[in-house]
Amino acid sequence: MAPRKSVNVKYHKVFLQSFVVTLILWLVPVLQGRYVPLQYSYIPVKDIGEEMLSIREVDVIHQSAPIRQFNVHNENSKSQEIRDKVDSKQNQGSKTIGIAGKSKQLRKKFKGKNAKRRDKARAGLLPCPEVSPFLKGLELEPQQGDGGVSEEPWSLKMMEEFAERHGIQPGGFWQPPHCLPQHAVTVIVGQRNRTEQLQHFLLHMHPFLARQQLQYRIIVVDQDNNEPYNRGKILNIGYMESLQVSPPGPEQQCVVLHDVDLLPLNDLNLYACTNMPRHMTVAVDTFRFQLPYSEIAGGAVALLAAQFEAINGFSNRYSGWGGEDDDFNNRINNQGLHMVRLDPRVSQYAMLRHKPAVESPTRYQFLDAGSTNEDADDDGLTSLRYTLSAPPDRHPLMMHYTVHW
Ligand code: BGC
Ligand code: MN
Repeated sequence: MAPRKSVNVKYHKVFLQSFVVTLILWLVPVLQGRYVPLQYSYIPVKDIGEEMLSIREVDVIHQSAPIRQFNVHNENSKSQEIRDKVDSKQNQGSKTIGIAGKSKQLRKKFKGKNAKRRDKARAGLLPCPEVSPFLKGLELEPQQGDGGVSEEPWSLKMMEEFAERHGIQPGGFWQPPHCLPQHAVTVIVGQRNRTEQLQHFLLHMHPFLARQQLQYRIIVVDQDNNEPYNRGKILNIGYMESLQVSPPGPEQQCVVLHDVDLLPLNDLNLYACTNMPRHMTVAVDTFRFQLPYSEIAGGAVALLAAQFEAINGFSNRYSGWGGEDDDFNNRINNQGLHMVRLDPRVSQYAMLRHKPAVESPTRYQFLDAGSTNEDADDDGLTSLRYTLSAPPDRHPLMMHYTVHW
């Protein structure tokens, strides 16, 4: 028999060492803040209705806001030519008002009369109820309005039929047919090569917004060049174009700047404006329904047109993925405004899957350098240059723009 080796285990040392290792493994993430739920304030569910500004309240704010003069925002006169072309084409083809061939002035007069008649008919309507009776609350599966989600691409004809069924007017406009809306909003979306997601977004959003009994329009801007995608610039363009949509309506005074791949799951999340700009995409499924960091401003933001102009919109410098939303948040803070949020339980969103974009390495450079008011003053709506690639399209489900620069 081999002699037994005696091992001298120093138990207290083993214990001490494993204790230290455990402590480090536990302490490091805690110190990094990883196990601490983010603390942020939010508007509780019961106050949502009260916090949302009515059309009249928004108008009062809008009228008292200083008017900002923007330069001619198109790179050259081409866009105006393109726009004029569509104007006359649309008016000529307009069977409903039957004025083909008449002078522009006459058309305007006629249109005005028509609008007046329409307004008169609607003037007899009662205001919509404070809380829409059509709200459903949380629905974990994003829908396409008529139930289910179709992966098949829809033809224009199918979209037209959908619009007709839902009472959506060409150019993605809707208003409650039987009551006067309390809130109005323009939803502005940017995209490039996301046709499937755009279809999904439109078919989800129209019924969602209609259930909220809002007066609304959806505006979509496609980036039509090979430059890196510039979300800030595209949303700035969407805003500038939204001002030119006719007929003008209260929806132009409150805007939601929205990613195409985020679908709201709870219709208690009212698409209207609050006194302060509002970060809407608080609880996104791909972020485990948690805010990744408290200053995040990506996804979707609702704010008054007057506020968007006061901060001079987005910076146009964030070419490629990331940073433009952080910069946007700085602009808001620098103007003495701040972001608010709704209860995360009503701010849930589903993100449509896509290949992750390549992060722009230059974004931190800009973020660190440019966050003062002076920087914002000459980088944003006031310095926006772009050209329409095609006439604005009154698609059945959206006002659609294709732009380059
Ligand atoms: C980017 C933001 C983005 C956020 C969440 C940040 O690093 O700068 O643009 O919204 O990550 O994905
Ligand atoms: Mn995305």
